[in-house]
Amino acid sequence: MPAPPDPLCWLRAAAGARAAAGLERSLRPRDARCRDGVTDLASNDYLGLATHPEVTGAAAAAARAFGAGATGSRLVTGSTTLHSTLERELAAFLDAQAALVFSSAYLANLATVTALAAALNAGQQNGAPPCPAGPGDGRGGPVGTLVVSDARNHASLVDACRLARARVEIVAHQDVAAVEQALARRPEPAALVVTESAFSAGGGLAPLAALHRVTRAGGGLLVVDEAHALGVVGPGGRGMAAACGIAAEPDVVRVVSLSKALGAQGGAVAGAAEVTGTLVDSGRGFIFDTALAPPAAAAALAALRLVAADAALACHTRANARRLASLAQRHGLAVIPPGAAIVCVTLGDPRLAVTAQRICADHGVLAGCFRPPSVPPGQSCLRLTARATLTEDEFRAAGQALAAVARHVRSASPVGRKRP
Ligand SMILES: Cc1ncc(COP(=O)(O)O)c(C=O)c1O
Repeated sequence: MPAPPDPLCWLRAAAGARAAAGLERSLRPRDARCRDGVTDLASNDYLGLATHPEVTGAAAAAARAFGAGATGSRLVTGSTTLHSTLERELAAFLDAQAALVFSSAYLANLATVTALAAALNAGQQNGAPPCPAGPGDGRGGPVGTLVVSDARNHASLVDACRLARARVEIVAHQDVAAVEQALARRPEPAALVVTESAFSAGGGLAPLAALHRVTRAGGGLLVVDEAHALGVVGPGGRGMAAACGIAAEPDVVRVVSLSKALGAQGGAVAGAAEVTGTLVDSGRGFIFDTALAPPAAAAALAALRLVAADAALACHTRANARRLASLAQRHGLAVIPPGAAIVCVTLGDPRLAVTAQRICADHGVLAGCFRPPSVPPGQSCLRLTARATLTEDEFRAAGQALAAVARHVRSASPVGRKRP
């Protein structure tokens, strides 16, 4: 009998291939001590609220009052008054009819796309009248939902599309005409158009107003992931849908993260009552998951109140991002103009991005390093994130680190190496 295959041997071979391509990853746990002398340009704590005393105090009080964990799923014992207050205040802040809190935005994306696609199909089968602008006749014609997804969407949206029992068309990044065409030629009566507003792996902004126009004309629903926009983009950090004046539109569904600018943990969906109702009844990530822990819900609520009370926080963060981008440009580095807090310095080669991250660390600057699959092949980058609370000393440290990165990039490029 031949020896059975050794699965771990295959895993080692795959790990070797990843390492050879510069794509291995490792964990670098941080301790709880204050990071004196370290400039954090890597975290998503855009407003510096993760350690704000009102936020941490609210989390501690909630842990004492409700317990460390939620004790059950939302529909069993996991919904507390903290969750319902957070949902009410999030809906008001986002100018939405309703909001629903999840244990993560990743899960909120999965639940939203899969449950909406399934319910749109079920609605057609149950004899709902056809959408007047849609191509299907809704009466004996084809039944189904098309999901149109931007090619640079976050992994959680990619996975959501994969899990949705629907045909998915991936369209070129920020290509409104491609979305319009996909909608126009579809045989399915229903459609979802799925995009980030502030792209996490590039920092650019989606053409949201135009996307909404073509989505509405095509009889679809626009699902907007505002994970990196909440607290940073739009009036008072209300997101890009608010900036475009489409926040209250019934065909706009927003997913936000409570784990980034709010400095807490979790996610939420904001939209029409029909949308949140669909998720309560059939969102698998809502029903079959332990609810967001009460300390996280309380922290998010406290942070949301701080954001709502200070419209300048979002402006400061965006201004600091533009300042970081111009520092990088001054040293000849290629930067995508930031629309939110994220500043991506494109380096191309994943190994170069890893080296740039190490150079930053050597200068006391924590920077992110995005490589495939977070970005397309050939577009690895150093990813810097601005914070509302960045100090002059931190900008100085960033400038020195970026100057050293630029020197390394020049010396590593064929043209740079030829220089005397
Ligand atoms: C665009 C985008 N959507 C969703 C998520 C998931 O958010 P969370 O960490 O709250 O699950 C992320 C996280 O990185 C993200 O960047």
